[in-house]
Amino acid sequence: MRRKRVAVLISGRGSNMRALVEAARNPSYPAEIVHVVSNIADAPGLAFAQSQGISTHVLSNKNFVTRESFDAALNAHIQGQNIDIICCAGFMRIMTPVLVAPWEGRMLNIHPSLLPAFKGLHTHERAIAEGAKTHGATVHFVTAELDGGPIVAQAPVPVLPDDTPDTLGERVLGIEHALYVRALDMVARSLP
Ligand code: GRF
Repeated sequence: MRRKRVAVLISGRGSNMRALVEAARNPSYPAEIVHVVSNIADAPGLAFAQSQGISTHVLSNKNFVTRESFDAALNAHIQGQNIDIICCAGFMRIMTPVLVAPWEGRMLNIHPSLLPAFKGLHTHERAIAEGAKTHGATVHFVTAELDGGPIVAQAPVPVLPDDTPDTLGERVLGIEHALYVRALDMVARSLP
């Protein structure tokens, strides 16, 4: 089976991107990370990608007046890279149909909650505030509805009595990496 060519979109640290890159070092993994795009010029994750010989690109949203014009430019850029699957990994943008529709069924995101609970930001803080006993992470297909697309895989973690948003967030991040690796594996195998 041909390995799927994956572009990862980041805005920051890029630890999930790194986990995908490391998993894809195994030649039997069904995807390879061939390109990384950031909307933030100094996103720390870019340096790691470059150190691995992966091509990177910065497309600053500050240079665009509307969400749609940024999304159109990003879509055009990715279409030029011969990409099969896009993985959003800490890509802090609300995306419009201009970008999402052409990639339906081929665009993934990781979100730090057990969706459909806690869509949006500050998920760990909100899980604690609402007294959730279980929290976790979700990989889902991206649709035009924020954090609303079909779920591919989820992993739970317990919420402990003395958790802060930081300690809970670290516990969630600890299961995100393996979850994303597993979800991309499933999706890459399932696509023609
Ligand atoms: C992760 O918690 C992810 O679930 C969320 O943003 C964070 C990104 O972390 N969407 P990293 O950049 O992958 O380290």
